[in-house]
Amino acid sequence: MAAQPVNRKIRTAVIPAAGLGTRFLPATKAIPKEMIPIVDVPMIQHIVEEAVGAGIENVVLVTARHKEAIENHFDFNYELEDSLDKKQKQDLADVSRKIGKLCNLISIRQKTPMGLGHAVLCAAPIVGDEPFAILLGDDLIDSKIPCTRQLIDIYEAHGGSVVGVMEVAQSEVSKYGMVGGKMLNPRLMHVDRLVEKPKPADAPSLFAIPGRYVLSPSIFQCLRETKPGKGGEIQLTDALQLLAEREKLFAYVYEGVRYDTGDRLGFIEATLAFALRRPELAEGVRAIMKKHLSEKPQGERK
Ligand code: UTP
Repeated sequence: MAAQPVNRKIRTAVIPAAGLGTRFLPATKAIPKEMIPIVDVPMIQHIVEEAVGAGIENVVLVTARHKEAIENHFDFNYELEDSLDKKQKQDLADVSRKIGKLCNLISIRQKTPMGLGHAVLCAAPIVGDEPFAILLGDDLIDSKIPCTRQLIDIYEAHGGSVVGVMEVAQSEVSKYGMVGGKMLNPRLMHVDRLVEKPKPADAPSLFAIPGRYVLSPSIFQCLRETKPGKGGEIQLTDALQLLAEREKLFAYVYEGVRYDTGDRLGFIEATLAFALRRPELAEGVRAIMKKHLSEKPQGERK
């Protein structure tokens, strides 16, 4: 397929954050899942930093009741910052202020949790008629070039819409939206088929969408036409199938390591990996891990 460079800059990212976070109960009873930290940085901050690192200026947060802490996190906290200034703890005051300056944050409520597709549609009045990115807060992608930037580069070279994909084992396909189509090169597919959480035998390939997208605004009309699918929810994957029938849709095998922080084990893995990378923590974390690995699990002790 011939490359068709496009000029419409991707300025806006949508971050759906209105889910109930049931896999993290009881932690998520009163605290938004997105505010649970990986070491000391809330998951949502990692995601917003990826978007900003990709050149995004406006972040549309699709939120819900009891999620106000997310908005507060990206605002200034005058009392805290002023108090840190007075105590001459400039580093900490700067850490706090920097988060307030990251991006323009615009939030909109999804009043009923009717699924990821419905959450994205809630952002339509803010995004308007522009291509935009979507980042899911449950997927932390650690990469030299931000994953969203990699997708924008493909969009700028080829036009259409782009979903980030990773190869998974056959036994894992029922956890993801899966894509199928024609490989244009080892990293790029022209997508013609998408299936949400298929049985292993029904997966169109082993390429899964973990939660990064750059989409044409036509997705909004596709979402309006999409009936509730798996779990009675409006599925983004079903709307993407419609989009693939109307416009070009590419899947790009991004470079990077993905952590499934919406899952408890994935969250623990991300916490350890990020802590081991912090010079002030690495040695201590290694010592703690060594100690616990050499101990017998509780209950087996004599
Ligand atoms: P998940 O399926 O992981 O749902 O949604 P969840 O509620 O966050 O978590 P669990 O499974 O109950 O533990 C994937 C993404 O879509 C958003 C979620 O916030 C998450 O970022 N989402 C999901 C919405 O914004 N609205 C919805 O109605 C559903």
